[in-house]
Formats: sequence, structure tokens, C-alpha cells
Amino acid sequence: MAREIRDHYFRRAKKEGYLSRAAYKLIEIDERRKILTSGDRVLDCGAAPGSWLQVASRRVGQSGFVIGIDLKPIKHSFVMPHAAEVRTLAADLREIPAGELLALLPAGSAAGSALFDVILSDMAPDTTGDRTIDHHQSIRLCEAVLDRCPDLLKSGGHVVIKVLEGEAYPDLRARTRRMFDAVKGFKPKASRNESTEIYLIGKGYTGGDGAPEPVAADEPAVELPRGKPSTGWAGR
Ligand SMILES: C[S@@+](CC[C@H](N)C(=O)[O-])C[C@H]1O[C@@H](n2cnc3c(N)ncnc32)[C@H](O)[C@@H]1O
Repeated sequence: MAREIRDHYFRRAKKEGYLSRAAYKLIEIDERRKILTSGDRVLDCGAAPGSWLQVASRRVGQSGFVIGIDLKPIKHSFVMPHAAEVRTLAADLREIPAGELLALLPAGSAAGSALFDVILSDMAPDTTGDRTIDHHQSIRLCEAVLDRCPDLLKSGGHVVIKVLEGEAYPDLRARTRRMFDAVKGFKPKASRNESTEIYLIGKGYTGGDGAPEPVAADEPAVELPRGKPSTGWAGR
């Protein structure tokens, strides 16, 4: 608690009515990387207590729509002037059927557009204090977000995914790169210095789940140069 009292972003969140200091991370990400647009439909994964819901619903405005999902129930009532309607549900992102999330979007969407424009994930595992374990649990949550993109994210849509950095980060980034036109890692100023968190931002969803292209079993991994057969070590 003492650390929080001293913390600039904690005090600012109290003063400005945000439910947590995490609000300033999304504000900075959006200001720098232009993720949220007026009218967007946004899915916020790991949304409790709800500060990203506050930020996203103001930024997409009255014509937008925001759904927040978290393992914990979100108790706050999000009624704000000039902001999008917010709906929340207590569920595990890894288990909830896509249809249940899409059914929460307002009716009357044009065919094919009834998907999300943006998926945000600030999901974090219950940390153990062991950086390697925490990193791999965080990677699993990030993979779950990418797994859901084919069913939930519209073509051209964007993702923002929190990850605790470590050895599997390059593979996660490579998978994201296979799914989006542009990918960047971003560390907002509001992230605590001692935290290993970074936000992986993917813009311009191109489809698919980012699985690497399978290599055919009968295909040689490398094309060998044609020419004289090697004499090997015997000829030296
Ligand atoms: C750092 S908090 C999110 C803070 C939030 N962005 C805000 O601004 O208020 C991380 C949240 O991820 C949630 N979470 C972790 N695993 C999840 C899962 N599998 N499905 C849904 N939520 C999950 C946790 O319950 C926790 O509330």
C-alpha cells in the first residue's frame, strides 16, 4: 500500500476517477499506436476491475460497443456521458464459446461485420514470483487471445496483448507477425520499472491463427546444389 500512495499513476487514477492505474497504459498505447476509433466494437479480456473499459468506452464513443470479460465478476456500473455501452461477463476467455461473446454485440449488424474491431488483453496469471513460471503462464494467455482471433476479430482489426517477457516471447511475436500486417512491442511509462510486462500490438489482422506453414514430409528442408557428387572425407 505504501508504494501505491507514493505512485504517481495511482494518485492520478484516484483523482480522475479511474478504477485502476492501468488506465494510463491503455491511454498511452492508444495515443502512440492509434488502436481505438469512434464506433469500434471492442472486446477487453481480463477486464476487472474495469479501468480499460472506462478508457475504451470513452474513446470509441456512443456509436461503439465494449464487452469486458474476466474470471472475476466486474461490479462497477459503466454509465458515462458520450461513451459506448459496456457489457461485462464473468468467464474464462479460454473456454467461452465465441458465439456467446458475439451474441452480446448489439443486434442488426451487417452480415460479416458482426465481429470485433479490436481485442484488448491485459490478462495476467496469478503470479508465483518465479519469473519463468509466470512468463510461461502469461504466454499461454496470450496464445489463447491469438487462438480466438479467427472467430472473433474482423479482417483489418487490431490486438493489444499484455505479455510477461521471457524466452518464449520471440515465438509469440513471430506468430503474431504471421497474423497481422504490423507488430510492435510497447512498454508504457505507467508500467512499473520492475515489471517484465510489455504490450504486443498487432495492427491489420490478415486472417488465420498464425500456425507456421507445415513442411511436406517428402520435401528436402534445403535445396542442395547440383554438381559433382561429394567424395566426402575420403577424398581429402
Ligand atoms: C491486470 S488485471 C486487468 C486490469 C484491467 N485491464 C483494468 O484496467 O482494470 C488482469 C486480469 O486478468 C484476469 N484473467 C486472468 N486469466 C484470465 C482468463 N483466462 N480469462 C479471463 N480473465 C482472466 C484476472 O482475473 C485479472 O482480473
